[in-house]
Amino acid sequence: MCGGSICVLAAVFALSLVFIFLRDGKKSQRKSKLPPGSMGWPYIGETLQLYSLDPNVFFATKQKRYGEIFKTHILGCPCVMLAGPEAAKFVLVSQAHLFKPTYPKSKERLIGPSALFFHQGKYHTQLRKLVQASLSPEVIRNMVADVEAVMISTLDSWVGGHVINTFHEMKKLSFEVGILAIFGHLENHYREKLKNNYHMVDRGYNSFPSIIPGTPYRRALLARRDLSKIISGIIADRKEKGIFGKNLLGHLLDSKDENGETLTDEQIADNIIGVLFAAQDTTASVMTWILKYLHDNPKILEGVKAEQNTIHRSNDEGFQPLSWSQTRRMPISHRVVLEALRMASIISFTFREAVADVEYKGYLIPKGWKVMPLFRNMHHNPEFFSDPEKFDPSRFEVTPKPYTFMPFGSGAHACPGNELAKLELLTLIHHVVTKFRWEVIGSKNGVQYSPFPVPLHGLPARFWKLPS
Ligand code: HEM
Repeated sequence: MCGGSICVLAAVFALSLVFIFLRDGKKSQRKSKLPPGSMGWPYIGETLQLYSLDPNVFFATKQKRYGEIFKTHILGCPCVMLAGPEAAKFVLVSQAHLFKPTYPKSKERLIGPSALFFHQGKYHTQLRKLVQASLSPEVIRNMVADVEAVMISTLDSWVGGHVINTFHEMKKLSFEVGILAIFGHLENHYREKLKNNYHMVDRGYNSFPSIIPGTPYRRALLARRDLSKIISGIIADRKEKGIFGKNLLGHLLDSKDENGETLTDEQIADNIIGVLFAAQDTTASVMTWILKYLHDNPKILEGVKAEQNTIHRSNDEGFQPLSWSQTRRMPISHRVVLEALRMASIISFTFREAVADVEYKGYLIPKGWKVMPLFRNMHHNPEFFSDPEKFDPSRFEVTPKPYTFMPFGSGAHACPGNELAKLELLTLIHHVVTKFRWEVIGSKNGVQYSPFPVPLHGLPARFWKLPS
C-alpha cells in the first residue's frame, strides 16, 4: 500500500523519466538530417508543379538539382524520392520490412481491401504464393494456344482500313487474357457481366472520389458491389461442379491457411479484381508502345520480321500453333520487349510508407513519410543506359547492372504476372509482324497519362492484312 501523495509523486517522477527517455531517444534518432529538396506550399506542397509539368520532367529536374535522394510534398503527403539503384534495393528488398505498401483509401475501396498488394506479412505471403503459382511458367505454358486465339481474333477485327484506338483495343485484349488466367474458360454470360461492371469500375478509378449519386466514382462503387456478386455466383457454380483447375480462382478456392481456414468469397473477389487491375492497363499500354516503336523504327521492325517469319514458316505458314518453346526462343523480339519496357517505363515509380524512422546514407526518412523508388529515372539514366532516349533493343545484348532495370519491380511485391505479360507481348509481336502492316494516324509524338503513359490519343492506327 502506498500513501496518496507519495504515490502521486512517484507516478509523476516515473512519468518524467519516461518523457525524458522518449524525448532523448527521439533526439538521438533524429540526429540525421532530412534529404535535400523543397516542400512547396503548405498542404498542397508541390502537387501543382508535378501535375502542370510532365511528371518525368518534374522528377528529372529534381534529380539534377538535388541528387539521387530528395524530399518533396505531394497530395498532402511528405515524400522522399529515390532515384538510385542502391536506394531502390534498400526500400524494396533488403529493408522492405521497414516500408509498407500504401494506396489512397478511395482506390483500396474500389479494388477491395483484401487484395494482396495492400498487405505485408503472413496474409500477403499466403496470397502471393497462390497468385504466383497460378501465373508460373508451368501453368502459363498451357495457355499459349488460348492467348494466341485471343490475339488472332482481336487482330483480325482491326483490318479493313478503319482507324482504331490502339490502346483501347489492347485493353480489350489484355482483359480477355486476364480472364483466362483468372478463370480458365468462362461462360459467355459471366464474361459479359464481368466486362460491363469492370468497365464502370475502371472508369471511376481515376475520378474524384465523390459518393454523390451519379458521379463516376459512385457508379464505380456500385459496379464493384455487383462484381462481388457475380464472382460469388461463379464460385458457387465451380464448387457445385467441383471444377477448380490450375487457374487463379482454382488456387484461391483450394487454399487453406495454417489453421485450416479457407478464403472468404470477399477475399477471393478482392484478389481477382486486384489481379485484373494489375494486368489490364499495364500490358495494354506496353503493347501499344511496342506497335509505336516498331512503326517508328523500320530497321528494327525488319529484324523482328525476319525472326518471326522463320518461326511462321516452320509452323507451316501459321497453320500450326505457336509453341511455348518457340516463345522462349525469340531473342530479337525479346530484346524489343525489354527495350519497350525500359523506354516507356509505364510504372514510373511506386509508393511505400516508412513504418519507423529510417536512416539511409545519413539521411532521415521519418516514420509515416511516403517513399518512392523512381524506376523511370533509373531506366533513363545515361550512366546505366547510354543514349537513353534512343530506342535501341541491342543494348540488352548485355545484362543491365543489378537494380538499374526494374520494369516489374523487385522484392516481395515484384510483379507475379511478368511471365504472362511477356508471353502476351511476344505473341502479339509474332502475329502482328507476320500478318499485318499498320500505319499510325496523326501526330507521331506525344504522351498522355491514363494514368500510365500511353502514346497520344491511344495511338490511332490503321491495319491491313498482308497477302499470305
Ligand atoms: C507489362 C505488364 C506489366 C508490368 C509492367 C507490371 C509491373 C508491375 C510492377 C512494377 C509491380 C510492383 C509494384 C510495386 O512494387 O509496388 C507489379 C505488381 C503486381 N503485378 Fe504486375 N505488371 C504487368 C503485368 C501484370 C500481369 C499480366 C499481372 C497478372 C496477370 C500482374 C499482376 C501483378 C500483381 C498481382 C502485383 C502485386 C504483387 C504483390 O503486391 O505482391 N501484372 N506489376
